[in-house]
Amino acid sequence: MTGSQKNTLAYFFDLADASLSTGYHNLYTKYAFQDDAAKNDAKKTADPVIPGSTIDQENRKSDDSGTAPVFDADDSLEKIAGEIRMCSACKLSAQRKNAVPGEGISRPLVLVVGEGPGADEDALGRPFVGRAGGLLDKMLESIGLSREKNCFIANIVKCRPPNNRDPENDESTVCIHFLERQIDVLKPLVILSLGKISAGLLLNTNESISRLRGSWKLYRRIPLLPTFHPSYLLRDEHQKAFAWEDMKSLCRRLAELSPLYAAETAELRVSRKI
Ligand code: URA
Repeated sequence: MTGSQKNTLAYFFDLADASLSTGYHNLYTKYAFQDDAAKNDAKKTADPVIPGSTIDQENRKSDDSGTAPVFDADDSLEKIAGEIRMCSACKLSAQRKNAVPGEGISRPLVLVVGEGPGADEDALGRPFVGRAGGLLDKMLESIGLSREKNCFIANIVKCRPPNNRDPENDESTVCIHFLERQIDVLKPLVILSLGKISAGLLLNTNESISRLRGSWKLYRRIPLLPTFHPSYLLRDEHQKAFAWEDMKSLCRRLAELSPLYAAETAELRVSRKI
């Protein structure tokens, strides 16, 4: 069978699966099936790709131009979470109380991506449970979203950076494959990235978050909206108006993509002038 035939089959399986399980279509998964013959040839010459290695990083960067990591059908959120809890690939693991794999529903409408756990998250092993988490929950709730109902919340790095500093390059480089695998399994309809670190890594840019926020991008064909990090909003209340604009934009986009969400939020969208 040719790679193109296999890609077409996978596309139709995904279409059927998405329609049956959630009522919305999220057909972004890019498979990289090869022709049977080509695959055998490749086997003889290909180097193994170590997650988080330079080779893997190169694959990730070129992802939007066509080379996609091959989706592992046996991967699961539980398996990834187990590996995260056992991980000692960077210096953050030595100081953690708990790793924080993430939480929420599988097949979410929205995957929220923060930077890394803080002290509260490290103590509990859960994402966004401190003050910033309280604000994040309110932001989500304002447009009919929650981690219990239709979101999954994760971070770029899964262990707490000391003194809440930004994750360093080597730390995010060895950790990012966990998030990539979570995305492959979760198949979120859209991604909401919080703050400069998260947007910068996913979009491979150094642009400031003030410039990035509010404008829709693509991450591996998934619509991605960067917005301010709730910790920043707690420090500068004036920015909340911009964050509300972003949440309204997210709400409108979800209503276009998911008839179920559109129906559930119909009244809310009228009353909140979305
Ligand atoms: N800030 C983050 O970026 N992530 C968390 O989980 C908590 C605070």
